[in-house]
Amino acid sequence: MRIFSGIQPTGVLHLGNYFGAIRQWVELQEGNECIYCIVDYHALTNEDTEPDELRRARRELALDLIACGIDPERTILFVQSDVPEHTELCWILGCVTSYGDLTRMTQFKQKAAEREFVNGGLFYYPVLQAADILLYLADHVPVGEDQLQHLELARRIARRFNYRFGRLFPEPQPILGKGARIMSLADPDRKMSKSYGPEHYVGLMEPEDSIRKKIRSAVTDIGLTPGQEMSPGVANLFTILELVAPQEVVEELRREHREGKLLYKHLKEVLYEHLMKTLAPIRERRAELAAREDIDEVLAAGADRARKIAREVLGEARARVGLD
Ligand code: AMP
Ligand code: TRP
Repeated sequence: MRIFSGIQPTGVLHLGNYFGAIRQWVELQEGNECIYCIVDYHALTNEDTEPDELRRARRELALDLIACGIDPERTILFVQSDVPEHTELCWILGCVTSYGDLTRMTQFKQKAAEREFVNGGLFYYPVLQAADILLYLADHVPVGEDQLQHLELARRIARRFNYRFGRLFPEPQPILGKGARIMSLADPDRKMSKSYGPEHYVGLMEPEDSIRKKIRSAVTDIGLTPGQEMSPGVANLFTILELVAPQEVVEELRREHREGKLLYKHLKEVLYEHLMKTLAPIRERRAELAAREDIDEVLAAGADRARKIAREVLGEARARVGLD
């Protein structure tokens, strides 16, 4: 299988990113051809992206990904804007994309509703995402649940292109992991995300104290009436627990919950302990990598490898539509 996925350099990698996507990225390296992209063109759609911060965030994210287990020798790890073919294919694909489909993207509608100035890039974001994937003829894409609609659109775009110009692109399928939808600890009705503010996400590299505090103050049973099943907050803590603790630990706590004996303080302590155990090797590697000065070269080498594939596929797409 050829795997492709992308992540925005927004400054912090959080538990949602890790359990929703990155953990699968790491596992899929075994036996597949993997291409992972730091999508800085996409990050430009966030109005508050400062140029220097973007430059810094790209490198930091690359180091974070390597610390998580992405191996840039085996896998192609690169920065999107180092391969400008992405934007050219984006334009070509935009011309086989339905305007109506773009207006139905929920991520666009949500983000547009939160802003005063809505840039055109935000509207076109899913077309660029389709171009990212199709440029490498990737057939599988490991992502969190929030990206399913974008992937569905990518398939529609591939289908329409193939129908009009002859089969070129595979229709990319999502790969969802167990942590495909991690919720905010402070507001378990919303997904864990950086955009709602620091209390809504837990960073992988965040200081221990701060992680402990966020878990301790996680919302649990507010608004729950007696006899109701698990509240969203508690369910979310169990979701994360399942990703970090042995099965018997989870079973025991679930039993206590069923019997009405579970103290949330205890659940949170156990969760904190197992989470830190899971994150420890990643955090240690990240600290060692802090001194890795060749990260720019590593990314440049990744871009060279990506570009070889990208040029060829773009060349074929240009020829099909009549540009060459
Ligand atoms: P982003 O940071 O928006 O570029 O997302 C990078 C990857 O993390 C994508 O595959 C997302 O689907 C995934 N992701 C982001 N937030 C969450 C979350 N709260 N739960 C699960 N996956 C997530
Ligand atoms: N839109 C994705 C996100 O916010 C990031 C992304 C860009 C992506 N291009 C991609 C994910 C291609 C998978 C494949 O999470």
